Amino acid sequence: MADLSIAVFVSGGGSNLQAVIDSVKDGKIHGQVNAVISNNSAAFALRRAEMEHIAAYHISNKLFPVPADFLSQINSVLVRHSINLIVLAGYMKLLPLEIVRRFRGRIINIHPALLPKYGGHGMYGINVHKAVIDAGEAQSGATVHFVDEVYDNGAIIIQRAVPVFPDDTPEILAARVLEVEHRILPLAVGMFL
Ligand code: GAR
Repeated sequence: MADLSIAVFVSGGGSNLQAVIDSVKDGKIHGQVNAVISNNSAAFALRRAEMEHIAAYHISNKLFPVPADFLSQINSVLVRHSINLIVLAGYMKLLPLEIVRRFRGRIINIHPALLPKYGGHGMYGINVHKAVIDAGEAQSGATVHFVDEVYDNGAIIIQRAVPVFPDDTPEILAARVLEVEHRILPLAVGMFL
């Protein structure tokens, strides 16, 4: 099988994107990150892509309010780079259904909790860690899963737990979970060959 041609979708800092790029450089992933797409033009993840000489694209619903235009922008990037794996790494939007269906089994997402707990609508970024702490959970963690038509619902690929301590703030917990994310996301991508 040919090497993976990976597109990473991002919205923010891109530390998970960096973990995947670093794993490619270390030879742990037999493929390349060939495109980075963000809905947010200010995302540091886009700068990371540029620094790594990876094609970086800003494609948002605001720039392309007609759904068919938005879809065709994304499609043209996926075709241009012969993408065969999509990684959602801190992407805070839903992918168009057409893409989810066409790439079934070839889209993975990292979520900062132990799914199926703390997933679904409104459960993203720091909100997740706030909810975990408010519920008095003794553990949280990170999950890599396949993406299907339902938010945070697809089959789980890897999951790893971390403890939650009584004096944790959402930010402290987020940092502990991120460390685990940076390990399991590249592992999951590496499993794709
Ligand atoms: C990560 O914690 C990721 O799991 C989360 O956003 C953060 C992005 O960090 N994703 C979601 O909440 C998606 N539902 P990063 O930009 O530094 O990789």
